Amino acid sequence: MCGIVGCASREHPVPGLLVESLKRLEYRGYDSAGIAVLENGELQTVREVGKIKNLEAAVGGRNLQGRTGIGHTRWATHGKPSERNAHPHRNRDGSLVVVHNGIIENYLELKHGLQATGSVFTSDTDTEVIAHLIDAHYQGDLLTAVQASLKRLEGSYAIAVIHRAEPDVVVGARQDSPLVVGLGEGRNWVASDVSALLPWTRRVVYLEDGEVVVVRSSEVRIFDRGGRVVQREPETITWSAERTEKGGYPHFMLKEIHEQPSTVSDSLLGRLAGDDYRVVLDGLGLDDEELRALTRIGIVACGTSWHAGHVGKFFLEQFARLPVEVDYASESVFREPVMGQKDLMIAISQSGETADTRAALRRAQDLFGAHTLAVCNVPGSSMAREAQGLVLTHAGPEIGVASTKAFMGQLVALLLVAVRIGQARGTISRDTIRELVSGLRRLPHDLERVLKTAAKVQEIAEVWQGARDFLYLGRGVNYPIALEGALKLKEISYIHAEGYPAGEMKHGPIALIDENMPILAIATRGRTYATIAGNVEEAKARGGRIIAVVNPGDDRVARMADHVIEVPEVAEALSPMVNVVPLQLLAYWIAVKRGTDVDQPRNLAKTVTVQ
Ligand code: F6R
Repeated sequence: MCGIVGCASREHPVPGLLVESLKRLEYRGYDSAGIAVLENGELQTVREVGKIKNLEAAVGGRNLQGRTGIGHTRWATHGKPSERNAHPHRNRDGSLVVVHNGIIENYLELKHGLQATGSVFTSDTDTEVIAHLIDAHYQGDLLTAVQASLKRLEGSYAIAVIHRAEPDVVVGARQDSPLVVGLGEGRNWVASDVSALLPWTRRVVYLEDGEVVVVRSSEVRIFDRGGRVVQREPETITWSAERTEKGGYPHFMLKEIHEQPSTVSDSLLGRLAGDDYRVVLDGLGLDDEELRALTRIGIVACGTSWHAGHVGKFFLEQFARLPVEVDYASESVFREPVMGQKDLMIAISQSGETADTRAALRRAQDLFGAHTLAVCNVPGSSMAREAQGLVLTHAGPEIGVASTKAFMGQLVALLLVAVRIGQARGTISRDTIRELVSGLRRLPHDLERVLKTAAKVQEIAEVWQGARDFLYLGRGVNYPIALEGALKLKEISYIHAEGYPAGEMKHGPIALIDENMPILAIATRGRTYATIAGNVEEAKARGGRIIAVVNPGDDRVARMADHVIEVPEVAEALSPMVNVVPLQLLAYWIAVKRGTDVDQPRNLAKTVTVQ
């Protein structure tokens, strides 16, 4: 939700750097974008509605040379996407500007107070109150004014502020929204995440909630909530800048779908013991004794990560033999989950910043005293730092808004967690571990084979691109994959799609079926095969048009299907990883054929830092 960046540079003009960083944050929101730079004692602001390319063109026409600046890409929360609501926002005389990611919950109350003392507001945003508030506290020192203003704010924020009287100073602050400091040679940054900084530096310091940072071209100083100086060692990011580029693919999503074999290999690195009988998982945060003492597992997540959670439930119940409850993070925080000190709460999140998941994780940790574990893709993200245990998914930066390779990483991570807990509890046999481990070792190769179905999937996309609705059916461990296939299709093609447990179809949705309804059935071999074959027959008998995902040699479901996608046969527990790929490809190709914006679908943002 919104991306922010700020830079103080000794020699180099910053406008181009800010725009380049914003391009890398565009996945966070793309309703409007803007920058402000300090040039010859004046703040110059450029703001454009729509994507960064519009801002880039406008900045290109201005020949700005300022060396201190801030930038923003917006996902609208307060006020529609328009130039007047685009950031940066200014105070009454334009002497300071601010960019903000988050929501100021008490902004109306603050706004009324500021209006009463003469502030005139020019936007519908909550952010603008921050600019007027800092102005009201400003007495020649931006840091002090920001520190005083933050005491009045309720809600979540990551901000960056510059003032025309203080060249070479960017003040940043965070509360419940991410902010990272980038350390360079002769220039330093703040940004919403490291991807914005990768072209310039790998040395970063993550800010904690309540901290304020003063960034100058030659130094960075961090202060805690009480104004005391914080010393924190920089960390080095291992992601390369190339991984945030398209590398010859037309879209990030297609590139990321094709990166899934390496997501699996990277996720397995160092986690499988050479003898194939053990999973080694550093960072779990629990020793064997604590794992044996566990009584229950809760999983909280949103969207695609929630689907991964449901596959994880299957793994954990089967291999760790513990009761598992999967919750929408956004719902769990309004209930009173039964959780205690012998329970484990797993938060699954690609970004590690999703506000609802983070809130549910904190609640489990602080209120119920449960053990917590984050399954995250972004090292250094809020959840990665806050949870007691961390299993990274090693998918590398995921830029396409529709999650693909991160989901793959989550499935692998959850399987490893389940096996690891099962090992400690003695609930999984050596033979089963060996079967899973050797299947995992082969999985990258199997995924390469699935990616070869792309041509077939494109043909199917051609036929069904005009469909109004889609039904996805799966059972058992592949039921969440049906949900995931439907989500992928609706979010990038805007076709209405529903995922359903195949056995439930006859209890209602069967009424929707006619010859215009494409039904994608996941019917690979395993314990659900015979029943799902029966469900496909029922759908076929009502005129439904079947797209079947099957294993080679299938002669029952394949015969009924209008279209067949063959995927390699793998152990049942690994079938979700294989089966999801053609569903991702189908959504991708249908979206491309419909001409939608695949990487940045309408109304969405990749990191949802508001509840
Ligand atoms: C869909 C998608 C979203 C996210 C959800 C949670 O393709 O990406 O549904 O899965 O917003 O995000 P994270 O995993 O970052 O917590």
